[in-house]
Amino acid sequence: MTKHFNSALSHSLGDLTTWKQEKYGLTGDTTYGKFRIQLYNDNVVRIQITREAGFEDFSYAVEATPSIEILTILDQSENLVVKTPNFVLTITKAPVRFSFYTIHDQLINEDDTFGTSWNGEQVTTYKRIQEGERFIGLGEKTGPLDRRGHGYENYNTDNFAYSPNGDPLYCSFPFYIGAHHHLCYGIFLDNTYKSFFNFGASNNRFTSFSADAGEMNYYFIYDHSVADIIKHYTHLTGRMEMPPLWSLGYQQCRYSYYPDKEVLSVAKTFREKDIPADVIVLDIHYMESYKIFTWSKRDFPDPKKLLSELKALGFNVVVICDPGIKIEEGYKAYEEGIRDDVFIKYPDGSYYAGQVWPGWCHFPDFTNPKARKWWKDHLEDYFNVGVTGLWNDMNEIATWGNMLPENMEMDFEGNKSSIRRGRNIYGFQMARSSYEAAKSLMKNKRPFNLTRSAFSGVQRYSAVWTGDNVAYDEHMLLGVRLVSSLGLAGVAFAGYDVGGFVGDASTKLFARWISIGAFSPFFRGHSMINSRDSEPWAYGEEVEQISRNYIKFRYQLLPYIYSLFHEASETGMPVQRSLAVQYTHDYKVYNGLYQNQYLFGPYFLIAPVESTKDLVKVYLPEGLWYYLYDGHKYTGQSEIILDCPLHKLPVFVKAGAIFPMQPITSHTGEATHTIILHIYAGDSSTFNFYEDDGVSYDYQKGNYALRKLSHDHHSKRIIISEVEGKFISNAKRFKLVFHGLAADTHRIIVNGNELGLIRDINTSFVALEKFDPIHDPDPAPQQSVHTVDFDYVKEEIVIQF
Ligand code: NOJ
Repeated sequence: MTKHFNSALSHSLGDLTTWKQEKYGLTGDTTYGKFRIQLYNDNVVRIQITREAGFEDFSYAVEATPSIEILTILDQSENLVVKTPNFVLTITKAPVRFSFYTIHDQLINEDDTFGTSWNGEQVTTYKRIQEGERFIGLGEKTGPLDRRGHGYENYNTDNFAYSPNGDPLYCSFPFYIGAHHHLCYGIFLDNTYKSFFNFGASNNRFTSFSADAGEMNYYFIYDHSVADIIKHYTHLTGRMEMPPLWSLGYQQCRYSYYPDKEVLSVAKTFREKDIPADVIVLDIHYMESYKIFTWSKRDFPDPKKLLSELKALGFNVVVICDPGIKIEEGYKAYEEGIRDDVFIKYPDGSYYAGQVWPGWCHFPDFTNPKARKWWKDHLEDYFNVGVTGLWNDMNEIATWGNMLPENMEMDFEGNKSSIRRGRNIYGFQMARSSYEAAKSLMKNKRPFNLTRSAFSGVQRYSAVWTGDNVAYDEHMLLGVRLVSSLGLAGVAFAGYDVGGFVGDASTKLFARWISIGAFSPFFRGHSMINSRDSEPWAYGEEVEQISRNYIKFRYQLLPYIYSLFHEASETGMPVQRSLAVQYTHDYKVYNGLYQNQYLFGPYFLIAPVESTKDLVKVYLPEGLWYYLYDGHKYTGQSEIILDCPLHKLPVFVKAGAIFPMQPITSHTGEATHTIILHIYAGDSSTFNFYEDDGVSYDYQKGNYALRKLSHDHHSKRIIISEVEGKFISNAKRFKLVFHGLAADTHRIIVNGNELGLIRDINTSFVALEKFDPIHDPDPAPQQSVHTVDFDYVKEEIVIQF
């Protein structure tokens, strides 16, 4: 078909020759290829463009299938027009180009005149940049929030101590959101080869996305808000299941804690020092000579005993898992891997070998069902000794030299492909193998699963952390942006190494980092071998107190945070939300000064700031905002200058907020019996408060308790809906804490009964009782709140205030 074209030049799709309506859309032939359009729902259309004989139907990323059968297709002289209730796709016939409009004829997105073209094997789609257009997304990518003027490559890479502009990193999420003229849309390129995104980095004319080989296969998503676009994207690529509650507590990691006595001593120190924590993470030194599935006989002679002692202290244990399997006679995993034929090979059938921690290794091919089964069989030993979480590392694949030969072959579920197609999904499929294995081995208990390398869809199986970050301020802020951007790519459960992995954090830096980390979905301290001690108590008394305060605050906030994870599991909504999610068309949120700010759930605005600063400029978007520490009110759409001493990370709460908290616990295994509802006057809102047992999958069978909390500012009414679901909450009492009520408010009516409010001037509701134990420069926070408490009932509660 392509013989008469000069293959040294770029060629575009050409003109339409024929077209045909199909069940979910249409197919068309052109002078240089063919295309297929399929509707996934009224907001999502898939576009495939190829020069091959057929269309590809296999995807690791996408779970959804096309579903809209009835289509309006108009065959006009120059165009084919496909109409859905929400948008219109116009396909020009000569040449074939795709443009998307609202139903009111407003242009959303259009091909550049280059359309889709091939350059050798590489395929690229060019889109015209619209006036004022901004681009956000791509998941774990460095650089600014607004990606306009920047270009990126997706080729999962172990990028140790990456620079603030380093690219590529460990993950690929070929999904972005464009916004202009009060419109927004998403584009997801579902192609796992090395890919490139150019957001007007070459000119002001086009943005483009390319893949080194394979089909042009992208999904166009249109809806009214970024949140809706993420919802559609996660309809395609899946959503997370509920994580174990304990994994949302503080996790302490180190490369590496050993021997067993040191691990126990770290755990005990948390309890002695009254710093809440839930997890100890074991890095590579727990193993015998770094061989996965083994325990060091010298340092961890009795892992079962150790883990049960930790359990008794309220700690769960997560272990690192590397894919490299040491080539060593007598090593069970190696021998059975050879026997079961699970390792990646070259085209001549010989095994690929690369060097990593244990020395020369083979690597399982997680795209082969046999390898996933073998992996599960070997993981079983971990769960038998009480491990409850897996940490998938080095899965880009990382080897010394970092040069994966590109001719290696992977199974791809029986449809063999070279690692050029497989590299970007290797970590994803490893994470999948670990999660599926853990889930079935832990019976009905939820495992925690974490991965460094990932691809779109990974949220179904794993949390993601941002790899080997570095202990300096700019990197700390970069990590915040990476996690916000992972959220835009459907990964709600993400975090960074608090304190910085590489290098030694300064005292101030650690204090700031741990305060920000308390408002991160995944909250783990970690640092590298041969760096300074980096536990919350390792930086002196003052930082220890700051760490304790913020970790305690996180534990109090867990009912809220857990509810946010429930939302993520239902809609894909991130827990940490770049301001661009909510305030997409407010240009200020993209300003370099403010781009690190984010919303933690709907109500908390966090303004991360360097540890070296005592003053910070914060942008508060529209609405009314309360400063967390003293309840001071600010009117939004304003830039303010604020003191930011180390013990006070700038945090604001949105007026109208209504959210649940709980009393302080030292770990999530301790039950609490009071639900503390905080209400911020001045606006209205609703929040879905979700509870379940925190450990099992029974919630999927209805064993959960969901209550809608409604706060109506105008009628001065709060409604706590009747419980939906079978789960019986541990709660015995409700306590309401009103912020911002008029000082002379004395009574409220709860289900018809008048109750007296207690006015409390000194309530330090954020638990930051002693900001600075040494100098105590700050008096107790002067926050005037009104409180009341009453018995918990599961029926509807109506409160008039
Ligand atoms: C690389 C990981 O990114 C890091 O977190 C870990 O500590 C080391 N591997 C050692 O396992």
